[in-house]
Amino acid sequence: MNESLNHENYSHLSPRLAVGDSEPDRNLALELVRVTEAAAIAGGAWIGYGDKNGADGAAVDAMRSLLDTVNLNGVVVIGEGEKDEAPMLFNGERVGNGASGNEDAPEADVAVDPIDGTRLTALGYNNALSVLAVSERGSMFDPSAVFYMDKLVTGPEAADMVDLRLPVKQNLHLIAKAKRKRINQLNVCVLDRPRHSKLVEEIREAGARTRFIMDGDVAGGIAAAREDSSVDVLMGAGGTPEGIVTACAIKAVGGVIQGRLAPTDDAEREAAESAGHDLEKVLTTDDLVSSDNCYFAATGITDGDLLRGVTYSGDRVTTQSIVMRAKSGTVRIVEAEHRARKWESYTK
Ligand code: FBP
Repeated sequence: MNESLNHENYSHLSPRLAVGDSEPDRNLALELVRVTEAAAIAGGAWIGYGDKNGADGAAVDAMRSLLDTVNLNGVVVIGEGEKDEAPMLFNGERVGNGASGNEDAPEADVAVDPIDGTRLTALGYNNALSVLAVSERGSMFDPSAVFYMDKLVTGPEAADMVDLRLPVKQNLHLIAKAKRKRINQLNVCVLDRPRHSKLVEEIREAGARTRFIMDGDVAGGIAAAREDSSVDVLMGAGGTPEGIVTACAIKAVGGVIQGRLAPTDDAEREAAESAGHDLEKVLTTDDLVSSDNCYFAATGITDGDLLRGVTYSGDRVTTQSIVMRAKSGTVRIVEAEHRARKWESYTK
């Protein structure tokens, strides 16, 4: 018998998430989809009502109660919401059935983004997702309350060439070369924000095109890394939590995310420095999530480039999700049909 496959070699690690290729590990990916489906269905019921906190609150509640059914002894290390005081699954919250006494549940770090695109949901714009990422305990980066990070995300072809420290133009030319494209065939996904005016100028001066997104740079980052997408690279400053969540997906689809913490004031800068962060350091995918034993799940809330949004028709609710397991590199698209009655307690 191949020594490395002997489960007894790993038994001392149990019940950590690091347990080789055992079945519960694999199944976790599909368990997580049930959670993002619930959050998307609950949040989706608020599409277009102009109430982003209402939508977020519904998605958070649904995510929390479904997480409790997952075989996981999880700690939320990347919560979401402090930035705009939205309702949240708070940092340090214990989730999964390990929290309610299942001693065999694997230990894990959990990153939640019940709605990436609360404004998109509230206003009925495209590209809102519900997102969840899980990785081995202790493997997710701790941003120490620095909300923004400069990001560069691109696919596998140019992953070893780009460097956030290089001028924008140089990175774009390297990506174009790696992808065998002309520079004017390169689409750069950028959050539409005043802070990006110089970046946008530099992109256009280099000869590439901008693809603005109003919100949702997790979907933007995944699109930049996926081969079959119309976006080649994501650039600009977005949420640090979203960067860590994106890193979990990049580990499965390939490509790279590079990030550099971008504090917006002295208090954030000091907090980051006293937590030991080097603000000049370019964080790689592995810095953001150090383990390859990680999972990413997302369900569309509104229609988008990555996923179709939730549809409600009579008693029928449909969802489309993507689920990835970094260790195997498996990416699944999961179409599901639900009965609305079952979801009444979660929806508006
Ligand atoms: P929320 O839906 O949680 O508000 O996040 C949306 C988002 O666009 C993220 O995708 C992105 O990383 C971040 O906000 C950017 O922050 P800001 O809106 O402050 O520029």
